Amino acid sequence: MDINQVKQAIASLINIDGIDSAEAASYVVVPQDTTLGDYALPCFRFAKALRKPPVAISNELAQSMSAMEHPFKKIEAVNGYLNFTLDRNAEAGKILSEVIKKGASYGESKEGEGKTVCIDYSSINIAKPFHIGHLSSTVIGGALYKMYKKLGYNTVGINHLGDWGTQFGKLIVAYKLWGDTIDLEKDGLVALTSIYVKFHEEAEKDSTLDDQARYWFKQIEDGNEEALKLFYMFKELTLKEVKKVYERLGIEFDSYNGEAFYNDKMAPVLEELGTQNLITMSEGAQVVDLSEYNMPPCLLVRTDGATLYATRDLAAAFYRKNTYDFYKCLYVVAYQQNLHFKQVFKVVELMGKEWHKDLVHVPFGMVSLEDGTMSTRKGKVVWLKDVLNKAVEKSYTIINEKNSALKNKEEVAEKVGVGAVIFFALSNNRIKDITFSYDKVLTFDGETGPYVQYTNARARSILRKAGELQNELDKPFTAEELEYLSGKEGEELISLIGRFTSTISDAVAKYEPSILTRYIIDVAKSFNRYYLNNRILNAEKDAIRPRLALVYATHTVIEEGLRLLGIKAPEEM
Ligand code: ARG
Repeated sequence: MDINQVKQAIASLINIDGIDSAEAASYVVVPQDTTLGDYALPCFRFAKALRKPPVAISNELAQSMSAMEHPFKKIEAVNGYLNFTLDRNAEAGKILSEVIKKGASYGESKEGEGKTVCIDYSSINIAKPFHIGHLSSTVIGGALYKMYKKLGYNTVGINHLGDWGTQFGKLIVAYKLWGDTIDLEKDGLVALTSIYVKFHEEAEKDSTLDDQARYWFKQIEDGNEEALKLFYMFKELTLKEVKKVYERLGIEFDSYNGEAFYNDKMAPVLEELGTQNLITMSEGAQVVDLSEYNMPPCLLVRTDGATLYATRDLAAAFYRKNTYDFYKCLYVVAYQQNLHFKQVFKVVELMGKEWHKDLVHVPFGMVSLEDGTMSTRKGKVVWLKDVLNKAVEKSYTIINEKNSALKNKEEVAEKVGVGAVIFFALSNNRIKDITFSYDKVLTFDGETGPYVQYTNARARSILRKAGELQNELDKPFTAEELEYLSGKEGEELISLIGRFTSTISDAVAKYEPSILTRYIIDVAKSFNRYYLNNRILNAEKDAIRPRLALVYATHTVIEEGLRLLGIKAPEEM
């Protein structure tokens, strides 16, 4: 039981006129001196309502509670206080039995029943590099997606592709000029990016290239067959490549509706804005004036009639509301876009839509590499797939050193290397800027992915060695058996395991996967302390089964926790 459940349990034992259960619960305290009990209730709080001295109240309450059913081992009245002592063993037995019964579905809840959450994440740009800057959005969004699902929410993962804009005109020109100098089959997106960079270099010398690019973009807009064919080819090529990375990261989407999807969905929204007199003309452009809210105007239609990023986001918000009737719609996008989302959300509010308050920007900080290679401006892009490959290579070397006899070393290295990168990206408060270092994320004895995976593999190895005994865990535990779990280390570990659901719920409420990451580290550390000081398979006969159950529960929570973060756990490493 966590503190809130205990407070509830105590409140439900109190029946005093004029004191409701929320009030009673709020009076419960954790005493300084724990030898008296785990929780205490100061009865002077009720003196006014009952017009009696606290000592008399505590005695009477203790008396009446003794006749009621409750989860405590002891309830005592001492000097006007009621002291409650938990029945830890019974509590431990309950938690373990639940994990054993539920397995990987342990931790699920009905919190989100009937509610839909849309999550806009990763949202890459077509024909642009999928680089390390996309890591955070992709894995934070992916983790939120799985955590919401675990809590029973209906989730819609959306990749709001950047698949519209003048850059596609440039790309067509570049491809027509230099397409035959590259091997798209072999070099894919890297090759495509290289001719895009070349276009910019050449356009500085030859301004007619920009005119051609405008021409070709217009052709896409007007539905010219050749232009569309190339455009779709670029799109397919990009998606094929990024999907490979998504698979490695354990990322899924329900929708790839990007900016182009909203081409025909902006007009009605603009019309509604018009009838509400929210549109102002500014030097020929259509804007929503936000000066009253200390923001620059939200630009929706340019002088030449072109719509913008914000126009598409506005249309997308309406589309999502109409299609999914969301309870919340999250945008996992870097903090650089804070203003953009504030503007778009404000426009929805000005249109009188109550649901503007359900639109949430979930910002995050920047990832840079230790050696500062993240400078896109100099054209030195760090591709995400290269970072993953290098992490996997390095893991392979480490695994080979530590355990050269291991089977499937390549497969394990993939899980460890990729897992280390994800775990790192989800380790800190998301708003912080972070610096990535291969050595730091791959160490086996820091607060890292490999450390946690290793702990899980250790637990699994104990379970394997237990053989047949593993199948005996679902029988109820006797009081004698449970006594073997007592002691600081065991109690701490079990209480952590009991907090799995509330941890996920907290992480989701704050849109902060690092809460789960920290929790998994705590479980792993707690387990390693336990393992160091307690015998398991070679313990006294009655101690083996409950302790093995604890090992199983630890493994279940770690492995399922990792899955929610998008990380795979090797059986051995
Ligand atoms: N493609 C955009 C970028 O790379 C991110 C899109 C985020 N989602 C959105 N609905 N605006 O900056």
